Order: sequence, then structure tokens, then C-alpha cells
Amino acid sequence: MNKTLSTAAAAIALVTAATACGGGGGEGQGGGDDAIVLGFSQVGAESGWRTANTESIKNAAKDAGIELKFSDAQQQQENQIQAIRSFIQQGVDVIAFSPVVESGWDTVLAEAKSAGIPVVLTDRAVETDQKDVYETFLGSDFVEEGRKAGQWLVEEYADSEEDVNIVELQGTTGSAPAIDRKEGFTEIISEHDNFEITASQDGDFTRSGGQEVMQAFLSSDDDIDVLYAHNDDMALGAIESIESAGLEPGEDITIISIDGIKDAFQAMADGKINLVVECNPLIGPQLMDLVGKVHAGEEVEERITVEEGVYTQDEAEEELPDRKY
Ligand code: AHR
Repeated sequence: MNKTLSTAAAAIALVTAATACGGGGGEGQGGGDDAIVLGFSQVGAESGWRTANTESIKNAAKDAGIELKFSDAQQQQENQIQAIRSFIQQGVDVIAFSPVVESGWDTVLAEAKSAGIPVVLTDRAVETDQKDVYETFLGSDFVEEGRKAGQWLVEEYADSEEDVNIVELQGTTGSAPAIDRKEGFTEIISEHDNFEITASQDGDFTRSGGQEVMQAFLSSDDDIDVLYAHNDDMALGAIESIESAGLEPGEDITIISIDGIKDAFQAMADGKINLVVECNPLIGPQLMDLVGKVHAGEEVEERITVEEGVYTQDEAEEELPDRKY
């Protein structure tokens, strides 16, 4: 991970007006002095999914005439907290963020509440006992994604009673997708005695993390049947290590991953990934719609889930030209 930026000044420097409001008109969201000012703290730029998510948010803000103050936390919770405090100081209209980890948000969320600034969570959830500290949470159902991965695997091996040894590449420790994707997957495979996770380690959702951890798995275990990667980037990194070890990804080791970025669809079309569970990052327009509603004081649902699919190798080639991220 990148070095922590520890001063408030550094955090403020990270907060840049990435997208200026569009010019003129449009009932308060059309730009100029009437534009809603949104402070958005992004996790980082760790994966293809994240890049697509950032682009979706920036484009959607521009289209909606929302002035976006965008901050990249470089996968550090302290940077996110500092960015949120900076947004509070600047008196933005709405704060949105995708929390890098689940816990440790109570104080800063209470500060936003005291300042009267509504907060929208996107992509990842927080764990809190406090009431009414955020308006809504827009994002995927990560537990369900893990279940979908587990269900496919169980069906794939339905005819075999032999042991199925699984290695797991986990996302960032403490993050909602890492916790939930493990939970959903484990829930399904634990119903079958012959499935076992033999090794599980944090690859931080990055290609280099996936490559390094998979190399370590392979050097200590010559009986790996399945790789379950919590995202595509880690799976793609792992494929490099599998090939370097003289094995065929997708053949010698069954590979399941989550997200559905173009590179993973290409790897599926090439026979190197067996299953991709989709996690849709293109939620910018939905987020801007919610920001507008929250700013206007309208009621919004507490939890809004994104619709997603599951893709196998048979579908990859046909689907590839239509992938939007
Ligand atoms: O929170 C969503 C996850 O974060 C995506 O699956 C992963 O690629 C990203 O880094």
C-alpha cells in the first residue's frame, strides 16, 4: 500500500475540484452558483473496477451539473477521514464515500451529522451502531456475489466426491467486499464435506498482490484445485504466477473471480478464467440521482442494491465486445 499521508494539509491537497459544474440553467443542478457541491472520497485506484467506478462518478456529476470535489484516499482510511473533515470544513452540500474498510467511522460520521451535511455511502458499507449517520447505501450485495461463486463451484464438481482444495485470494483486510465475499462463498461450500479452503490470504485487490500471494501458495502447495479470487485484478495477477509455475490456468487450476472487467472476460475467452461473478461499478448516474434527492430533503431507500450477472467461458466471447468496463 502507499505511504500514509498524515497531515490535514495533505488531505486538503488531495481534494481537487475534479469536475466543474456544467454551464447555466437546470433547476438548481444546472451549474453556476446553484450547483450542488458534492465531496466524494474514493478508495483509491487499486483495480480496473475502481478506475471504471471513478470515471462513472466523474462523468455522471458533470452530466448532472453537480460540482464534484474528488479525493483519492490511496487505500488509507486516515486519508478518507481527513478528506471528509476537509469537506465538512468547506461546507459542501453532500458527502459521499466508498469506505476502504468497514469499521472506525463513528466519529467522523457524527461530525458530518453535527454539521448538518447528509452522507451517502456508495459501493462499500460501514459497520456502526449509531443511528441516522448516513442517508442511504448504494452498492452491490457482496455476500450474494460470494454465494454465486460458491454455487457455481459446487455444481461444477457435483459429479465428484473427491476432495476439492481451494485457495482464496482475499480483498483488502477489513473491507466489506473481502468480509462478505468470503462469508457468502463459505456459506455454500461448507454444506459439502469435500470442499475445503486450504489457504487464504490478503492480495489487497491488486494485480501485484494476486501475483505475489499466488506465487507463495504455489510454492508451498502442489495440490491446488481451485482459486477463488475476490476480484479480477488479483485473478489476473495470479494467472501470471500459475503460468510461471508451468501450469495451465483454467485447466490445471479452476479460477473463479469477481467484477467482470474486460481483461477478465478476455482471460475467460482464452480459457484462463472459468467463472466471473459480476460486480457493476457504473453506478455514477444512480449516485448523482440520490445526491440530488438527499439534497432536496426527499425520502430515499436505506439500501439500494445493484443488479448483476454471472458469466461462464461459453458466454465470454459473445459478451466481450459489449463490456462497458
Ligand atoms: O468494493 C468493490 C471492490 O473493490 C471491487 O470488487 C474491487 O475490484 C475493488 O477494488
